Amino acid sequence: MPRHFIRIPDLGADAAALVRRAKEMKDSRHRSDLLAGKVLVLIFEKSSTRTRLSFEVGIRRLGGQCIFMTPAESQLGRSEPLKDTARVISRYNDAMIVRTYGQEKLEQLMQYGSVPVINALTDQGHPCQVMSDVLTMYEREPDLSALKVAWIGDGNNMANSFIEAAMVYGFSLSLACPEGYDPDMDLLTKARKGGARVALTRDPAEAALKADYINTDVWASMGQEAEQKKREKAFAGFCVDARLMSLAAPGARFMHCLPAHRGEEVSEEVFESPASIVFDQAENRLHMQMAIMEWVFSA
Ligand code: CP
Ligand code: NVA
Repeated sequence: MPRHFIRIPDLGADAAALVRRAKEMKDSRHRSDLLAGKVLVLIFEKSSTRTRLSFEVGIRRLGGQCIFMTPAESQLGRSEPLKDTARVISRYNDAMIVRTYGQEKLEQLMQYGSVPVINALTDQGHPCQVMSDVLTMYEREPDLSALKVAWIGDGNNMANSFIEAAMVYGFSLSLACPEGYDPDMDLLTKARKGGARVALTRDPAEAALKADYINTDVWASMGQEAEQKKREKAFAGFCVDARLMSLAAPGARFMHCLPAHRGEEVSEEVFESPASIVFDQAENRLHMQMAIMEWVFSA
């Protein structure tokens, strides 16, 4: 059975060690031949800058090769069933790194394919990004359970993966989402039942109060572009600006997975301020994904 990385709890007992390993790989400018002779395929049904580049560079640093594929230039765009694609890929490639819409597509690839599947973002989650964000917080404060993290904005894929991260790494998470834009409430309930410290409010100031990290993301995610105007109205008051940052803990940092829409979910001033660590987050995609690939292939 191949080892997959679909959501953060998949890491099980390896969760803490994986973050330490990613930090070690970053500090040592790690290179290896772990993936020598292997060809991984990236199947992206949505746009990407960071995820694509960091995976492609990480694969090369681990001695492997990769192929980037989109529906536009493959038979996926002409409705070849995913279950057939999964079986074809498994005859040529050693892993599938997939960015898509519904999480069920990953389930199908795992069911019909015979190589590892790595989740490079779905509508439900963005675990590689949030693991990189965990690394970004860990390198500043190794005791993650001491942290309060705020999520201001849409209860989207990023918010869901942050709930999973709070469950696994023990930090306290306060989400502020407008009504109608909550995260996955089944996941939130499950996380709370498992002891996670996750709060949900409609008030950004309440979530931001004394937080060590203030996180946000775009109001309309990929695939929701037609809702942009409606969402701008719903998210009024949810911009992370200097006033909101002033409520956070002394020395608090601003986080964003990028790309960002300045003047919407974050002000230009906060985005460009010394408190902003968005490019450290972007860099850490590379180191964390190398650690994730090592974990996947060490099964
Ligand atoms: N944060 C992130 O996943 O960026 P890309 O969409 O550019 O990959
Ligand atoms: N929530 C965003 C994240 C982009 C990296 C989206 O899905 O478009």
